[in-house]
Amino acid sequence: MSGDHLGLLHKELPNMEIVILDDADTIGQVAAEEICVLLGSKPDAVLGLATGSSPLSIYDHLAARHAAGEVTFARAQAFTLDEYVGLGPDHPERYRNVIDRSFTSLVDLPPGAVHSPDGLAADIPAACAAYERAIAEAGGVDLQILGIGTDGHIGFNEPGSSLASRTRIKTLTRATRSDNARFFKGDLDSVPTHCLTQGLATIMAARHVVLVATGPGKALAVQELVEGPVSAMWPATVLQHHPHVSVLLDESAASRLQLADYYRETYRGKPPWQGL
Ligand code: GLP
Repeated sequence: MSGDHLGLLHKELPNMEIVILDDADTIGQVAAEEICVLLGSKPDAVLGLATGSSPLSIYDHLAARHAAGEVTFARAQAFTLDEYVGLGPDHPERYRNVIDRSFTSLVDLPPGAVHSPDGLAADIPAACAAYERAIAEAGGVDLQILGIGTDGHIGFNEPGSSLASRTRIKTLTRATRSDNARFFKGDLDSVPTHCLTQGLATIMAARHVVLVATGPGKALAVQELVEGPVSAMWPATVLQHHPHVSVLLDESAASRLQLADYYRETYRGKPPWQGL
């Protein structure tokens, strides 16, 4: 089969691609390259940003490439996925502050180009509707970075979330609050009980989804995401219906995948020009 045919198979047709890489740093490098290529062809691209530790190496690589003059975000926009309800403007764990600290303050995104759901809004439903409108007015998200919770959540769409959900308030599960207690000095009671999150349908509207998972703690969620049945009980599985998803994993996050060898072989056989 010619390279052109391969290109059609991988790029034009709907595809969930599983990429198993050596470590978090390599994952960050591969995802950052994809984002730099996107910004090269579309300087006003809209990026979807995620908090959590998984995307940090992507942000580190992007910040380094920006510092080296290899990429500019001057015309780009960014939308974050989610936000805790009720954390004050200066709280270090407010997701808006986390994303500024770990990424947006390190690149040249213009002031006002970074948007996040307003976890302090007096009128929560109006704030959620305004967030949906803002994403639509920006032309939709071109590339959405995602992590995954150990219970299979994406954004903060906990198990049982409607697969058709849009930005809304959610109650966090005890499992997610205890996973995230490490950011609150290990104190579960300090972790907010509620959040605002883009819905699963909001995330599904992004044109390209790049999901990153590392470590053995994510292996079960990754197995469900890639090889399990689509179910609201594992919200990330909705991505099986998305036309362009790249799942970047380290060996331990990929350890439960039945078809791991096939995914490795497929990735090795890709023409180098294809990207993700
Ligand atoms: C939080 C965030 C998610 C993130 C998840 C996993 O719950 N709301 O967007 O994917 O944590 O975080 P980590 O990457 O630190 O494991």
